[in-house]
Amino acid sequence: MSISSDMWKRALKIAERIRKEDDFLIVTHIDADGITAGSIAAETLRNLDKDFEIRFLKQLDPLTVKSLREDGRLLWFTDLGSGSANIIGDAIITDHHEPVLEVPREKRGDILAYVDAVETATEYHLNPHLFSHNGSTDISGAGTAFMAARSISKTNDYLSALAIVGAVGDMQAQKTGRLTGLNRQILEIGKKAGVLEWKMDISLYGRETREIHRMLQYSNDPPFPGLTGDDKASIAFLLDLGIDLKYESGEWRRWIDLADWERKAIINALINLVLDYGFPAREAERIISEVYILRNEDEGTELHDAKEFSTLLNSCGRYGKAEIGYRVCLGDREEYLEKARALLQGHRQVLVEMLNHIKDGGIREYGSIQYFHGGNSIPEEITGTLAGMALSSGIADPDRPIFAFTEKDTGEIKVSGRGTQAMVERGLSLSEIMKKAAEKIGGAGGGHDIAAGATIPKGSEEEFLKMADRMVKKQMKI
Ligand code: C5P
Ligand code: C5P
Ligand code: ZN
Repeated sequence: MSISSDMWKRALKIAERIRKEDDFLIVTHIDADGITAGSIAAETLRNLDKDFEIRFLKQLDPLTVKSLREDGRLLWFTDLGSGSANIIGDAIITDHHEPVLEVPREKRGDILAYVDAVETATEYHLNPHLFSHNGSTDISGAGTAFMAARSISKTNDYLSALAIVGAVGDMQAQKTGRLTGLNRQILEIGKKAGVLEWKMDISLYGRETREIHRMLQYSNDPPFPGLTGDDKASIAFLLDLGIDLKYESGEWRRWIDLADWERKAIINALINLVLDYGFPAREAERIISEVYILRNEDEGTELHDAKEFSTLLNSCGRYGKAEIGYRVCLGDREEYLEKARALLQGHRQVLVEMLNHIKDGGIREYGSIQYFHGGNSIPEEITGTLAGMALSSGIADPDRPIFAFTEKDTGEIKVSGRGTQAMVERGLSLSEIMKKAAEKIGGAGGGHDIAAGATIPKGSEEEFLKMADRMVKKQMKI
């Protein structure tokens, strides 16, 4: 029996449990994967005529677990919960984060202060890590929630579209340019249900909604030397290729409006640009990737393309408005979609302003690394995004890891670290750095090799940088 069929068996068990209960509290994460996962759970319960409420959390801490346990309704955790599985007790968990099933002996006292029993909840716990699958690439939180939804009824198969938006939002296709593993099964289900299709196309953000030159100008993944960040250069580049930027009516053309020859010409020119600049062929290949299309949405809207849809949801969650994204997922195409669009617009403006601010304020080198400090002018929710953009847009040195500091409302300091695939291949592990360096100075952190974050005490930035520099040198053998 294949490992994924074991996972479907677990999903079936969860489905049976859901059928038996009447009143639920869905608890989910605030990012695109969390919002879609929560929406899948909500739709599933709504389709069964069950009572439920949904709550969005930035993170799950023991104190919150304690109060949730006292709620009385059956808890359904989506896109979070696995990391607290040892203290959650009886609940449904559909998640893809690293599970914590046991409480370390030395922490028992702390944990017991919050909950009266330390249990291992695996019976209704669906997580790829428990079945030898990869939680970063095979399936996301929304995907695991979808497995439960489908196990209740195949009439829920239309929810596969949201599951794919969640996976794309969590960058599960990033490494290879296409979704793999269980995500592939979900794609096939969505195709059969008529809600999903996919094809190879340009991987840039805004394929359906942006003027072509803006799509180039704002691209930072991969960045286009000379075009990224420069609207005049992007326009000239297109005119040189003989591409009309506007229709005769004066309306701007988008990527989806172009003829085949025009798209081919642009892709070829971009590939040459990247190669001429000395980037590895792998970078050039990333210009093309699989794109995922939600067939029931209108072409040319943010909801038709999974990547754009997930970006829209992320801008809701980042500004404390996950609920708005949730309403859009549930089908609101008027009031809430307008609100979500306004948040996305605002988010873009904030990013542009902040990036200019960083450009002016300067990024400082510190041994093998570089950093900037936002003081209290950068919202903590976007430090990671900004650090990533600074690195990929060429504002920062593309060859060293970057760290961004900002002051949180609590007075503590939030740090975000970002690297590149090439650095990771040379040994960089930002999660290790965040975890170890933060712990040494009384903070806490973690994440992935390529992207990680931490919270540290104010005033300890210098000490943190010193340790980070030393660790990077060791990891990357500098
Ligand atoms: O906040 P930021 O975007 O920089 O976070 C990057 C990654 O680091 C995320 O995966 C997040 O879950 C992780 N992280 C963490 N502990 C923190 C902050 C971030 O594990 N205190
Ligand atoms: O763990 P968490 O999902 O919260 O981390 C998300 C952040 O980590 C994203 O904002 C993204 O910038 C970064 N990330 C990345 N490449 C990966 C995984 C995460 O850049 N492969
Ligand atoms: Zn997730």
